[in-house]
Amino acid sequence: MSSTVHSNKQVHTDNIALLVPEGSHERVMTGRERFLDACACRPLAYPPVWLMRQAGRALPEYRALKQKYTFLQLVQTPELAVEVTLQPIRRFHFDAAILFCDILVVAEGLGQRYQFREPGGIIMDFTLKDAADIERLEVDAVIERLQYVAKALPLIKTALGGHSALIGFAGSPWTLANFMIEGGGIKDYSKARALYYSDRPLFERLMEKLTLAVTRFLQLQIDAGADALQIFDSLGGLLSDGDFAPASGHWMKQIVKALEGRVPVIVFSKGTHGNWGELARLGANVLGIDSNVRLAQVRDTLPGNIAVQGNLDPFMLSTKPELVAAETSRIIKEMRGKPGHIFNLGHGVPPNAKLENIDRLLETVRNQTKAGSTAPGD
Ligand code: CP3
Repeated sequence: MSSTVHSNKQVHTDNIALLVPEGSHERVMTGRERFLDACACRPLAYPPVWLMRQAGRALPEYRALKQKYTFLQLVQTPELAVEVTLQPIRRFHFDAAILFCDILVVAEGLGQRYQFREPGGIIMDFTLKDAADIERLEVDAVIERLQYVAKALPLIKTALGGHSALIGFAGSPWTLANFMIEGGGIKDYSKARALYYSDRPLFERLMEKLTLAVTRFLQLQIDAGADALQIFDSLGGLLSDGDFAPASGHWMKQIVKALEGRVPVIVFSKGTHGNWGELARLGANVLGIDSNVRLAQVRDTLPGNIAVQGNLDPFMLSTKPELVAAETSRIIKEMRGKPGHIFNLGHGVPPNAKLENIDRLLETVRNQTKAGSTAPGD
């Protein structure tokens, strides 16, 4: 097991490392506590860190499992989903683990099955073409069909032993609608926008169903032990400033409200840069911030009780450790004295990420001197 931290001492338990500031006699803070403190905007000496898509193709141990199992087998078999979720935690000791799953499982729960092919990516068995297809989506079947997630989460929670937080997730209704209407991942998403502009009542019918399905799926994840939830609005940036609220924000707001503050909620609306006010009003505790904006500026724009998560350019992970260290330090320095920061990328870990770059990222985040502390003595 590699030790990646210079001025901090790594204490290893079974899978997990705790970070003990050298010479400190203070109670050790777990990654889970650090993560939850950041969600609540409490001051910390350095931010918690996890990476979107931290499990997956960049890890040799994931690629080895893919020799034996398909992507959907990994997702739908609780023991395998647990294993893939824990792989990056064992290797990097992230402060949070994210359930290994996929946003499109909700489409599948509704009756629109899909496959992941190599090459080819995501292919849904059929596309949503008309009102009849939307009517056929079975909201009441979702919980039953997604029981494998209810089984996997408690197993992950036990394995984490309280050391790292456990994040559950779902796609936003808007992002799901795009995949479900197109029938998979494509270059230019236009059909969901076409429906939104041309037949608003039918669009809203679809969004109502997706909102209910996503809400129930997230409630299932809280009941099964998730410490926090992230809503991936990865295609939010397709919408013009005026359309973001009615096409995406409104539905996410309903979901967050229905979750009643039971756990912190992170909303990651990628590319949504003209709607900070609307994003702040969603009720989320944390907003995910992509790499196209300056994190510290966004932090200052948002109310002080909303934390931010991001925003290192994922491309950096395919470059060199020195470049990763420089960019990571820049972000940390700019965020100094601004509580409520969860270090992450601006989007997911790319498949060609180099593991030494992830090591350096973690080392840089955690190797903060007291001079850089927002709470000396933390
Ligand atoms: O973050 C994590 O480590 C948890 C796992 C996770 C996956 N997908 C695993 C996955 C999460 C959080 C997702 C979310 C997801 N899935 C999103 C939103 C986040 C984002 O990246 O914008 C979207 C749009 C999807 C739908 C999806 N799943 C697509 C478009 C693809 C193919 C694109 C690709 O990366 O190849 C997937 C497949 C997928 N989901 C993989 C993984 C690890 C790749 C499967 C493989 O190659 O083995």
